[in-house]
Amino acid sequence: MSARKSPKTKNPKTVSPGKIAVPTSTSSSPDGEFELAGKAAEFIFSQTSLRPRIALVLGSGLGGFAVEFAAATKIPYVKIPHFPQSTAIGHAGNLVIGKVGAIPVAGMQGRVHLYEGYSAKEVVFPIRVFARMGIKAVILTNAAGGIKREFVQGRLVVISDHINLQAVNPLIGPNDERFGLRFHDMTSAYDRRFREMTVGEGNRLGIGMYEGVYAGLLGPSYETPAEIRYLRAIGADLVGMSTVPEVIAARHSGIRVLGISCVTNAAAGILDQPLNHREVLETAERVKGQFIGLLKAVIPRIAEAIA
Ligand code: HPA
Repeated sequence: MSARKSPKTKNPKTVSPGKIAVPTSTSSSPDGEFELAGKAAEFIFSQTSLRPRIALVLGSGLGGFAVEFAAATKIPYVKIPHFPQSTAIGHAGNLVIGKVGAIPVAGMQGRVHLYEGYSAKEVVFPIRVFARMGIKAVILTNAAGGIKREFVQGRLVVISDHINLQAVNPLIGPNDERFGLRFHDMTSAYDRRFREMTVGEGNRLGIGMYEGVYAGLLGPSYETPAEIRYLRAIGADLVGMSTVPEVIAARHSGIRVLGISCVTNAAAGILDQPLNHREVLETAERVKGQFIGLLKAVIPRIAEAIA
């Protein structure tokens, strides 16, 4: 496949808060990802005067946090041009723009997954929209199975790194340099400073915080016990079916990433019991208060860090 040459400069796009990122490179088609994401961003800006620089993706059963935003505007995904629609239970499908304390944020109540049949590019479209909105930091949350023995049900774990076992990458195909480089670095995909701040804030709140490596699988079936033994052997501490494409796309555009998993169940074969989605949602619901407390503590720190 022929790809355009890698740019000689660093990420050439310039985005200032409140402005839709202006193309600085020549190649564009009216229905390219960059243009479509720009249209979606424009629509979102037409609905609210807030111009957030921090976005959250609230995973399975965790969307409730957005209900607490002050001065909130709720935009159903169906209304946002080109936005994918979530079909998974526990994913409400609204973008909520509002404030946490004094800080404007954009919160996605639910995401779409590869297992729903969406392509990797569709899965990361909201992240592309965030890039066009001038978002500088994204907090990605998810429900995950705990592989590491200490990661028992209800634990909140800061993601330190990931292993992509989804066999796809959202950046496959021609690279649009207005989003980022052809070959972008993933050495520090999960921002070290954000991780330290989150562990620190969690400990201050009395939440025993841990860090771990997230293995992203395609799903939708849960793993077999043999697969979990394999994942442990290759260095995974958590397993889930999301997040990885979004992190890749966010880093492509220079958006800093914090990932937090809620361990909703012990991974397959660890306990002598089958897995089910009800348990995932029930656990997410049970730790929601703690999760929200952590996010409220971390958001002002992130706002400072990206100022
Ligand atoms: N495996 C994969 N995805 C998950 C799990 C799991 O055990 N729990 C929540 N999401």
